[in-house]
Order: sequence, then C-alpha cells, then structure tokens
Amino acid sequence: MLVFRSHTWALSLQAAVGSLAVAAASALGGGTTYQDAVWWGAAHPDITGCWLGNRSFERCCVNWNFLDELPGKACWSEADHAASYQACCVPKNDWAPRSFFSCADTGIYWERLRQTLSLFRSLTALQHSPLNGAAPQECLIGGVLVSLLELVYVSYELRNASAPRWEHAYNKVENSMRILFSSPVSLEEILVSGWPLFLTLDFFRFDNRFQELATQRLPGVFAGFQTMKYSNTLSGAIQAEQGNRIALDVVVKLANSVAKAPAESALVQLMPAFTALVNYHNLRKFDLPRSDAHDVPRLGVEAKRLIEFADTQLRSWMAHFGYTFSLLIKLEIPLVNLLQALSWPGVVMTQPAEYLKSTIHFPGLQLAKILPARQAWHLPLVEQHIHPGFDAASNMVRTTLQPMCYAPGFLFVILATASHVREACEHSQAECRARLKVWDVGASYGDCMLWAASYLLEAFVSEHLELRGFEPLPSAAAAFRRSVRALQRSRKLSPVALRFLVEEIAMRDQAGEVEISFPSHSMALATFHRCEERYSVASNNLYHCISRPTRAETLDSYMASFPEPSLPDPVDVLKLHVQGDELSVLRGANASLASGRVCLLHMNLETLLLQVKMEDPAHWLAEALISTLKVADLVGVLVNLWEVKPATFESIAAAIKFKNPDAVAWKPPDPNKRPEELHYELVAWRPSWPCHESVAVRAVSSMWLPDATPL
Ligand SMILES: *[C@@H]1O[C@H](CO)[C@@H](O)[C@H](O)[C@H]1NC(C)=O
Ligand SMILES: *[C@@H]1O[C@H](CO)[C@@H](O)[C@H](O)[C@H]1NC(C)=O
Ligand SMILES: *[C@@H]1O[C@H](CO)[C@@H](O)[C@H](O)[C@H]1NC(C)=O
Repeated sequence: MLVFRSHTWALSLQAAVGSLAVAAASALGGGTTYQDAVWWGAAHPDITGCWLGNRSFERCCVNWNFLDELPGKACWSEADHAASYQACCVPKNDWAPRSFFSCADTGIYWERLRQTLSLFRSLTALQHSPLNGAAPQECLIGGVLVSLLELVYVSYELRNASAPRWEHAYNKVENSMRILFSSPVSLEEILVSGWPLFLTLDFFRFDNRFQELATQRLPGVFAGFQTMKYSNTLSGAIQAEQGNRIALDVVVKLANSVAKAPAESALVQLMPAFTALVNYHNLRKFDLPRSDAHDVPRLGVEAKRLIEFADTQLRSWMAHFGYTFSLLIKLEIPLVNLLQALSWPGVVMTQPAEYLKSTIHFPGLQLAKILPARQAWHLPLVEQHIHPGFDAASNMVRTTLQPMCYAPGFLFVILATASHVREACEHSQAECRARLKVWDVGASYGDCMLWAASYLLEAFVSEHLELRGFEPLPSAAAAFRRSVRALQRSRKLSPVALRFLVEEIAMRDQAGEVEISFPSHSMALATFHRCEERYSVASNNLYHCISRPTRAETLDSYMASFPEPSLPDPVDVLKLHVQGDELSVLRGANASLASGRVCLLHMNLETLLLQVKMEDPAHWLAEALISTLKVADLVGVLVNLWEVKPATFESIAAAIKFKNPDAVAWKPPDPNKRPEELHYELVAWRPSWPCHESVAVRAVSSMWLPDATPL
C-alpha cells in the first residue's frame, strides 16, 4: 500500500517567508493584488523569491523516482536543505495558489498544448498533436495530462495496439498521478492551474475497456442502488449548474445513503471531503461573486479552509487504495465531475503587459515597437472576473493569464495615446491634464477595456479618464462590473476618481427589447444574427444556442439622454465589436457621427459578413459601410500587427472577405516574418473640429496620417 505524503503546513517558517513576500509583492504592484488572489483563490505569480535563477518547482520539489528522501538536493544549500524545501515547496495556508503550475513560460510545446486543451471540449480533436513533445519533468500537471492523452491515443488511434502497449500506457498514467498527488502542489493549485485535468479524466469513466483495467486493480463495487441514484442526480446538477449553486439537499441525502450501507464503508471516509468541496464550490462560484466587498475576506478565508480540509482528507483517502487513476475513473460518486467544475475558476489574475511579448498566437513585439524604449510601464495584475464555467473566451483567459483582447488596431490606438500623453506631459503641463473617453460597444467581459485601463492609468490623471463598456449579456456585464470594482478598489480610486461604467445594453439602430443568442460553448460570440444556423447546425448540434432578453438603445439616443452641458466632450475612441451588427450600430449613431461626437472608430471588418445571406456580399457591405460613415468626416486606415494601409473602397471590400486560416501549426511565430494571410481592422478618425483637440486623434494622426485616406 502506498503512503501519500500529505501537506503539513509548516508554521514555523511562515514568518520568514511572509516578510520576503511583502518585499516581492511591491515589485508586482502592491500587496493588495496578492491578498485579493488569496481571497478569490486565484493563481498569482511567485512572490517568495524562491524561484529566481534556474530553480523550478519540478526540479527542486518533486520526487520523480519515489526515492525515500527530500527531492531537490541540487537546488538548495546543503546546510538547510530541509528548511528550504519546507519554505519554498510546501504551500502555506496564507499563500495564494502559485501560478507557475500553468507552465506559461516553459516553452512552445506546453503553451500550444494548453491552448489546444482549453479550447476543445473533445479529446479526439487532439489526435494530431505531438504527444511526446516535451518531458513531464518540465511541467508537472501538464505532464500528467500528456500521459492521459497518450492513453487516449493508444486506445483509439492504435486500435490494433497490443495488450502490453495498453497496459504500459495505463500504468504510466497511474504513475504520473502518484507523482502528482505525492508532490507538494495543493489541490487548489491543481484546480486553478488552467490544465483541464479532471475533464480529461471524466472521459475514461464511460469506457468499458478502461473500467475493466480499473476493476482488475480495484476489484469490487463501491456503491449500491440508492447511492447510485443520488450520485446520478448530483452529477447532472453539477454539469447543468455551471457557475451556480449545487443544491445541498442531495449531498446530504447521498452522505446519509453511504453511511447506512455497510457495503459502502469505503465511501464513508470520502463524504466529508466531498461535502467540503461542494460547499467550496458554492462559496467560490455563487456566494463570493455576489457578496459585498467587506464580506470577501471572510468568505475567501472560509473557502480556503474548506479546500485545505478537502485536500488533506482526499489524499489520505486515496492513499488507502494505491491506484489513484483507477479509483477516480471507477468511483460512482461524482468527484471527478465536481473537481472539473472547480477547474473553471471565476477570477483570474491577468497580466496586461504580456501583450507586448511574442507568444505562440500573438507576436506582441510588433506592438512594443511603437513605444519609446525609455518609457517604462509598471502594470499591476488585473483581477479579472470571467464566466465560472466552460466558455471559450474565459478558458482563453485562464490559459494565457492575459485579458483576451485580440484587436491589434485598438491595442495600437490605446498604446499610442497613453505613450503620447506621457511623452508630451514631460514637456508641457497642459498635456498632463489631457482628457480621454473610451467606449467599447460589445465589451463582453471587459478584457479590452481592462487592458486599456491598465495603460491609461499610467499616463492620465484618473479623474480625466472615462471608460464605458456596453454589453447586453447579463452574466458577462455582471462579471465585467465586478472586475471594474476590483480595479477601483485595488487602485484606491472611488467611482468618482475613476469613471469606469458598465452598461447592460445593446447598441442598435432602434431602441427596444430584443433577444440576443450565444452558442453554448462561447458567450463572447453572442449575436443577433443567425446563431442557430451558424453554430448549432454547422457543428452537427454539438453546441446549441441560448437566448437572453436584453434592451437596445441607439448611440444617438443614449448620448442625447445625458444631463450634461450642451456640448459635452466627444467620445475619443469608440470600439465596435458586435458580431454582424456593425451597420445597425452605426446607423443608430448617425447624428453623433455627423456632429463630431465620435472622434475615432475602431472596428472589425469580416464580422460584417455575419449579418447578410447573399452571394459575395463584400462589395455591397463595403459600400454600405462607407456611405454610413460619410457624414462623419473621417480619414481611415486598415491595420494589423505588420502593416498599415489606406482604407480605400477596394481594400475594405477585400478585408471583409478575409477568411481565417483553419490550422495553426505547432511552431512559434517568427516575430520578424509576417504570415501570408492577414486580417485587417478599420481605424478611422476625424481630424476636424471638434476632434482636432482629442489626444487620441492627435496620437493616431502622428502615427498613421500619411497612410490615411478620406472615407
Ligand atoms: C543551472 O542549473 C544547472 C544544473 O542543471 C547548473 O549546473 C547551473 O550552474 C545552474 N545555473 C545557475 C545560473 O544557477
Ligand atoms: C495498426 O494500424 C495502423 C493503421 O491503422 C498501422 O499503421 C500500424 O502499423 C498497425 N500496427 C500494428 C502493430 O499492426
Ligand atoms: C444623418 O445625418 C445627416 C446630417 O445630420 C443627415 O443629413 C442625414 O439625413 C442623416 N441620415 C439618416 C439616415 O438619418
């Protein structure tokens, strides 16, 4: 029988590590984000200073060979090896989960694997990935997943594989699970690592061949009829209630059923941990997001205690059986299900500055080029609230630990504006008092606006900024609002000191009640146009569309409703991301565009196609777009990360026709080489009155005016 090393919190060393933590936290933008991460259970970069140089958790803390000694001899000095191991490897009860388990900086293979896993629900989509691309010793949790994927591969792709080959792959999974659960990574850290470990495990629960192998290792049936009944009910509830409460009555009945059946004694010890996890789930996904700011610390600490309790109990329970993998895929009680639900955390600490780095899917150095080398930007982490369940855009945030804002034109405009003001402010006092209004229509969870706020707050006086997001989906708007409150709180800025508003409305050409629909796998794709046809039918009903009632306004009526002076400042930057509804929004903005109340417009072009059903509509759409914008007196460019060109009729029509290439290769992008297929966005601005004074217009003019053409 195996003995798992359980986590004993090393209190004696906490004081020493605590003071280290404070020193390092200030470098990351203050202890407040760290404390918030503890309360929200969100992964946070290391602040202990333990992992400088080339030490890594995998190398210094993990016992890969089950030798009977502390791992990491080469990492820590001979004299206090055990003390260093305790101080650095073993998680403490006042630590936020450590973010390095995501392996975000561990190289291209792990980055690509993470992305592929988080965007696909079906494991068969992974059949062509190079499974042997990296050593598990580089990435602990990712390594366990790779062993699971190899098992899928051997069993499905190589249907003719021999029994020993199967057995070998199966044992490899058992072994990697053993390494994982005996290493000093906490359950909380596994859950928020961004690796869908338990989703992958769920796959093996419904396959007889795997069930057979599990039964060979763990003979016997655990649960009787009553327990199965409650388990099934609960399992359904966990899957249906993503981001909602799990009703406790069924959990209590399940525990009672287990306690009364003598044959189920093996499950009795599991029930306290299971019940703790259900309560943890409800606190994290339901109570905390709805609580007042002053309740967050208390509820956060309660959640932390529950997960620690469950962690210790679960490990000692699993240790009785020896075969963790077999146990988890055989277990009737929906523990794997619940753990997977917990792996979609609703809060992620994101790093806005990461957009200036080149990664596998985004050559950020192209953006960084427009910033003067001597400007240093210190951007604190952003507490970002997302959908606490499966959702493609939210998964992307979990995976990349970045706000998801793939709108290069907008990123350029904001960076140029922030940089321009910082530069000019050094020379002229008047420039330091520049004002800016940025509005985002179709803001989703607010990723682009939160990213923009991070940069703008470095350059502008907060009172001079106004940020406004419009989002019709109630749950997305609510998450966005929570992120805004967190930003104001962490910067100690009241809603007066930083005007950052979230409006739960759609902008269209007519005011009124409307239904908006989104495919079940991705709320960010919410649209008014042909959801069923595009997502349910096209994907063989793998996804279905969900509708929500919402309220629409026109930009003109919205602006007219302000109790402001007769000529309020214009909107400096209007970002439009509305999945096919662009022309409708612009028609509803005719008066605002004509009177110069919108100074700069940023929009996607190929999404225009979503609203029409005709053969080759690009020319028709380009004409419609240009004639709608005629009143606004704009000049425009088409931009992507590599180039800028005039927004002529022909170039707009060509950009509308653009189709995303499907396959993305397993290789890093070359930051100096542009890809063959390019997607362009429109950036158009009004150089004339009253916009000639807008800092955004001035910054963008000085960057792109030579390339611009009147629209
Ligand atoms: C990094 O680790 C290797 C052993 O893997 C060691 O030889 C080397 O000295 C280390 N480098 C630094 C800078 O610590
Ligand atoms: C199993 O089948 C695949 C093709 O489906 C083939 O490439 C492979 O050689 C076969 N392996 C054995 C051991 O027969
Ligand atoms: C748009 O505004 C302009 C200028 O006020 C006006 O001449 C034009 O008729 C308006 N177009 C529509 C469709 O309302």
